[in-house]
Amino acid sequence: MTKILVVCLGNICRSPLAHGILQSKLSSDKFVIDSAGTGAYHIGNSPDYRSIAVAKKNGIDISMQQARQFTASDFDEFDIIYAMDSSNYKNILSLAQSESDKEKVKLILNENPVLTNKNVPDPYHGDTSDFEYVFKILDDTCSLIADKLG
Ligand code: 4NP
Repeated sequence: MTKILVVCLGNICRSPLAHGILQSKLSSDKFVIDSAGTGAYHIGNSPDYRSIAVAKKNGIDISMQQARQFTASDFDEFDIIYAMDSSNYKNILSLAQSESDKEKVKLILNENPVLTNKNVPDPYHGDTSDFEYVFKILDDTCSLIADKLG
């Protein structure tokens, strides 16, 4: 079993989308997918209604997800930890306790040659088109991840 964790700041906009998209593309027989936020603001909350809507429009139900905060114990639990942006990446690395912890952390868009070293933009203060853009780049990138791992 390969365990993949996707991480953003609030765990209500970007990482719930990556979580649902990866689940839709990878077999649950071989992969466990989860998501978390580096911040504590939204612990226990459902995803943002705009993320739920764009996922639903694309045939993915993320409405049952609940936000949780990333913790150092996630390094023990997960094999791959994908950060949505460079700030999440730094915050995750600051909790690493070993080189092997650090090696698990990747910027998710580095899996996409067209978007290398780019951040998944935070759509929280944006509008529907921002959520649609985030869905599109995560969908493209998660297809590449599924091709590589699946
Ligand atoms: P996310 O978006 O990191 O993609 O879940 C955010 C949601 C809420 C906040 C920040 C980012 N916030 O500060 O409340």
